[in-house]
Amino acid sequence: MGPRDHFATRLGFVLAAAGSAVGLGNIWKFPFMAGQNGGGAFLILYVAFVLTIGLSVMLSEYAIGRAGQRNPVGAFRVLKGGAWPAVGALGVIAGFVILSFYSVVGGWTLAYAIKSVSGALASNDPKVLGAAFGAFIAEPRGVIAFHTAFMAMTLFIVAGGVQGGIERASRVLMPALAILVVVLAVRSVTLEGASKGIAFFLTPDFSRVTWGTVNAALGQAFFSLSLGMGTMMTYASYLDKQVNLPKTAAQVTLLDTGFAVVAGFMILPAVFAFGFDPQAGPGLTFITLPAVFAQMPAGPLFAFLFFALLAIAALTSAVSIIEPVVSYLIDERGVSRRAATWGAGAVTWALGVPSALSLGPWKDVTLGGKGILDAVDYLASNIMLPVGGILITLFIGWSIADRAKEEAQSDGVHPFALANVWIFICRFVAPAAVAWVLIGGL
Ligand code: PFF
Repeated sequence: MGPRDHFATRLGFVLAAAGSAVGLGNIWKFPFMAGQNGGGAFLILYVAFVLTIGLSVMLSEYAIGRAGQRNPVGAFRVLKGGAWPAVGALGVIAGFVILSFYSVVGGWTLAYAIKSVSGALASNDPKVLGAAFGAFIAEPRGVIAFHTAFMAMTLFIVAGGVQGGIERASRVLMPALAILVVVLAVRSVTLEGASKGIAFFLTPDFSRVTWGTVNAALGQAFFSLSLGMGTMMTYASYLDKQVNLPKTAAQVTLLDTGFAVVAGFMILPAVFAFGFDPQAGPGLTFITLPAVFAQMPAGPLFAFLFFALLAIAALTSAVSIIEPVVSYLIDERGVSRRAATWGAGAVTWALGVPSALSLGPWKDVTLGGKGILDAVDYLASNIMLPVGGILITLFIGWSIADRAKEEAQSDGVHPFALANVWIFICRFVAPAAVAWVLIGGL
C-alpha cells in the first residue's frame, strides 16, 4: 500500500465535505419532508437538531477519522478495538443501503436535465406536470437506465481517486448551484400567491408535531449532514493535523443548512402559488420546479442548468457515500481501489433496482406501510444513521474522551474553548436525545 491520500489544503477538505453534505438531501428531500411534516415546526426541529447533535457528531467523526487515519472499521480498531469496529461496519453497510436509492433519484435528475431541453416539461399546470413525472417514474427501462448512468458516473470518479476531478469540479460547480438556487428562491417567493407557502414554511404549528415529525427532523439532520455512517470520518482520515476541526465542522454545517433553507424557499412558496399538494412526497421538487421555470424568461435554459447542477451536487454526495465502503475494502481487505469501487458499485446498483421499480411497476409493494424507496430511505436515515450517531458519540464521550479533546484541538495548535461542552454532549445529551427520539418514533 502506498502512502495514504491526503487533501492538499483545508479549503479542499471543506469543499469535499460540503460537497458530501450538500446534495439531494438539501434540495430534493428537505422541501418534501418539510411539506409532509408541517412546514415551520419541522424547520425549527431540524435546525435545533443540526446545531446541537449534528455539530457534535460531525466533530466526533472528524476527530475519529483524523486520529485513526483509516476507514471507519480500521479507525475504531486502532483507537480502541474491542467491539467498536462493528460501529464502523454498520456505517459501511449503511453506505450500500443509502447509495442504492440515492442513485435512483440521482438518475431522475439526469433525466430531468435532458427533459428540460426537450420541452417535455414546459407547463405550469400541476396536473400536467404531475402526470409527466408519474409517467416518467412508471416506466422502468428509463428509470433503470438513468440509475445505471448515475451509478457509472459515481464509480468513474471514485475509481480515479477523490482528489483530482471531483474536488476541482466542486470548486466551480457548487458556487454555481448556490447562485442558481438563490435566484430560483427569489423567483418563487415573488410569485403571486407565494405568501401562503412562506407562512407555511416559517410559522411553526406545534399542534401538528408528532413523534413522526421529530423522528423525521432528526433523520433529516443526519442524512443532510452526511453523519452516522463514517463518511465524514473517512474524509477526515485524509486530513492532516494542521486543520482546525471545530471551525471546519461549523462551516460545513452552516453551508449545508443554508442550502436546505434556501431550497425550502425555492420549493414551498411555489407549491402554494400553483396549487400543488405539499404532501406530494418524493415527486415534489420534480413537479413544482418545472412550473416555476415556466414562469421565467429562458425557462428551459434555467431548468437545464438547475437539474444538471443538481445532478452534480448529487454526484459529489454519492461519491462520499461509497467512499467508506471502498476505503474499507482497500485498507482492510487489500483490494485495489479499482476492484473495490466496481465491486461495491455493482452490489449497490443491484440493491437500487427495487427502489427504481417502486414508484412504477412495484408501486403496490410496501414495507412497513411505505413504498420500497421510501422504506429504504427511512431505514437508513431514521434508524441506521441515528444509531450510528449514538454509538459514535458514546465512543467519543466514554471511550476516548481525552484523546478526542486533544485531536479536536490539533494537539494544542487550535485551542477549542467548548471542548468540555462537546464531550458533555457526547456523553449524555446526544445519545440520550437520539435514543429518546428513536424509541419514541417506533
Ligand atoms: N448529505 C447527502 C445529501 O444531503 O444529499 C447525502 C448523504 C451523503 C448521506 C453521505 C449520507 C452520507 F454518508
